[in-house]
Amino acid sequence: MRAFIRSTGSYLPERVVTNAELSRKVETSDEWIVQRTGIKERRIAAEGELTSHMATAAARMALENAKLTPADIDAIVVATTTPDDTFPAVAVKVQAALGMTHGFAFDVQAVCSGFVYALATASGIIANKGAKRILVIGAEKMSSIIDWNDRITCVLFGDGAGAVVLEATDDDSRGILTTHLHSDGRHRDLLYTNGGVASTGTAGKIQMQGREVFKHAVEALAQVVDEALAATGYKPEDISLLVPHQANLRIIEGTAKKLGMGMDKVVVTLDRHGNTSAASIPLALHEAVSGGRVKRGDLLLLEAMGGGFTWGSLLVRW
Ligand code: ACO
Repeated sequence: MRAFIRSTGSYLPERVVTNAELSRKVETSDEWIVQRTGIKERRIAAEGELTSHMATAAARMALENAKLTPADIDAIVVATTTPDDTFPAVAVKVQAALGMTHGFAFDVQAVCSGFVYALATASGIIANKGAKRILVIGAEKMSSIIDWNDRITCVLFGDGAGAVVLEATDDDSRGILTTHLHSDGRHRDLLYTNGGVASTGTAGKIQMQGREVFKHAVEALAQVVDEALAATGYKPEDISLLVPHQANLRIIEGTAKKLGMGMDKVVVTLDRHGNTSAASIPLALHEAVSGGRVKRGDLLLLEAMGGGFTWGSLLVRW
């Protein structure tokens, strides 16, 4: 039994925050942000708009695009670092919002690699016949853990959610072909929040040593891309579309270059979304699918790296 992506959905908050707006609050400029990151604007959740609200909206769209109802879903997995509350999990709140009382729901926390981890987890459950259809969602309210006075981090992140319906199939011509997950907790101090439930009793704000993170990201992504290809025997030229985590355009371009891929085969949304952590890949995937860039039989490479460090890749035959 294998899992394939049957449909996608997304949700972005209404409010657009441009680089120009940020440059009125901290000492930065549109030119600096675009040159170093590729980000031009990001969406920021409204007051009272929570991660579970965004996750539910994306989930509803994914269900609608699959012509399914919540009754057809067996489980919900949400990747998030910014849950509404310490508990219950965002996934359980989504379950309730969708009116589901059957099945099971839980969150996965692997920061920016969260969606890759969640897809790998859900696909394992499907392979073991623990569920037939799983809503896999990446949802983040990064604005809630940003220090808006810290120019190093406040320009990078955004809010949003993306979702997919993952479904069991015995058709081995499609689906998730291989998953590769890694973590290394030694790098905690390069990217972390200066607070937490059990340490300070607050969520804390993002602290980052950007240059170091950048260096590790380039190496880690090269490793997981190589692993995905080695495990399946595919060559870089077999990949139809690269759907990378959207942290920095220079990192994305570096991965594409290493694969010998033109940027026409890479999905880029960070210019408009910023880094939405676990939401970035499903948001990018939905944009590619709804824009007609993905067709049956295409080979998609998904990859991400984030706090922890965590990193991972997936190869998907559409
Ligand atoms: N505007 C203007 N100047 C700035 C800004 C800003 N927003 N931020 C930093 N600077 C300054 C710095 O203070 C520094 O000044 P100095 O030379 O006087 O000391 C100078 O710009 C250069 O700073 P660097 O950090 O060396 O700049 P760099 O070229 O490395 O770019 C960036 C910084 C964009 C953060 C880059 O390192 C990067 O993208 N790293 C990866 C970050 C990332 O991917 N993070 C997310 C990981 S995913 C997750 O899990 C959340």
